[in-house]
Amino acid sequence: MAELRVGILGTGQIAGGYDLDRAPGERGVFTHAGAYRAQGGFRLAWAADPDAASLARFAAAWHPEQTTQDVDRLLLEPLDVLSICSPNACHVEQVLRALEAGQVRALWVEKPFAPTLGEAETIRQLAFLHQVQLLINFQRRFDPVLLALRERLRGEDIRLVRGLYHKGWSHMGTTLVDLAHLLFGPPERVEARSHGATGSGDLILDVQMHWAGFTGHLLALDSPGAPSPCHVFDLEIFTARERILITDNSRRILVHPIGDYAYGGVKVYLPEAEAQQTDFDQSMVHSAGFMEGFLRGDQAWSERPLLDNLEVCATVQAGLEAARQNVPIFLPPVPPDLEMS
Ligand SMILES: NC(=O)c1ccc[n+]([C@@H]2O[C@H](COP(=O)([O-])OP(=O)(O)OC[C@H]3O[C@@H](n4cnc5c(N)ncnc54)[C@H](O)[C@@H]3O)[C@@H](O)[C@H]2O)c1
Repeated sequence: MAELRVGILGTGQIAGGYDLDRAPGERGVFTHAGAYRAQGGFRLAWAADPDAASLARFAAAWHPEQTTQDVDRLLLEPLDVLSICSPNACHVEQVLRALEAGQVRALWVEKPFAPTLGEAETIRQLAFLHQVQLLINFQRRFDPVLLALRERLRGEDIRLVRGLYHKGWSHMGTTLVDLAHLLFGPPERVEARSHGATGSGDLILDVQMHWAGFTGHLLALDSPGAPSPCHVFDLEIFTARERILITDNSRRILVHPIGDYAYGGVKVYLPEAEAQQTDFDQSMVHSAGFMEGFLRGDQAWSERPLLDNLEVCATVQAGLEAARQNVPIFLPPVPPDLEMS
């Protein structure tokens, strides 16, 4: 079976660096290059980065067949799949140019993706037109343990959701919104308050998301001039039976059942938790598997990732707008399915 030709644009941490920096004994695959290698069936044809030192470090570890500092060139190379691992501000332009050049069959793009709904919709239309499979690297969507939790939550009486994130609403906030959408679907209404901006200018928001029957509070740990001292990305779900905490950067789920307290008749979420490992450390390999399935013709082109992205983009924008205007924002209806129109 012929190997699929891969290009990687931007050769920093998520491209390959995290897997080189793993702590001793740490398992898992946390990069695009690592995921293609672990999945098998791919060959790393090209890597591009304007920074010579970044490119050299990547090349020494992952051995791409060709390298270039001319990032524009890679957008014109015939490839089966191109990973876009450049800084946030480059994603939309590079995706648009790759789609217009028509040389790639699939794009695996880093989050955050399109900052505006208009851009997200333009990209959806273009990807449909060219039948280029586009996947945004919200890797939690490929974690079978989180998908099983989603199924389990469907029948639960959810009372409250609480999420903690850092590094700004449009950056890490986007990933937390994506996880909330994965588990509960898009909210109906969003309210938000801003308490300043991160050092990189992203807004720090506390956001209330309203689903039918329950509310979610997504809280930022950063303060202006005082970023969170460590990585925090937790989502906690209070149901009528349990308190479920997705923690340790989505690697573990802790389930606290309700039990009786010392006083008669008083119930509490018990402090002792049942711990479950997620499959987060393999989720990027599962994402590469999704790409391979499409490229080998085993699965049809899907606009699901683009629709998911549109919905996430709408909620992220609603948060920004709600904070700016200090009013609740009602989410727009999901756009029509292009496959059906
Ligand atoms: N999905 C995840 O879990 C996850 C984790 C980390 C980072 N990310 C995302 O990945 C992207 C990169 O983050 P990182 O941590 O790897 O950053 P990084 O700084 O380690 O790497 C970025 C690389 O892009 C290069 N670059 C700069 N301008 C470029 C251009 N115009 N075209 C191509 N490359 C260019 C830089 O020289 C650098 O080597 C960001 O958008 C970030 O949000 C996602």
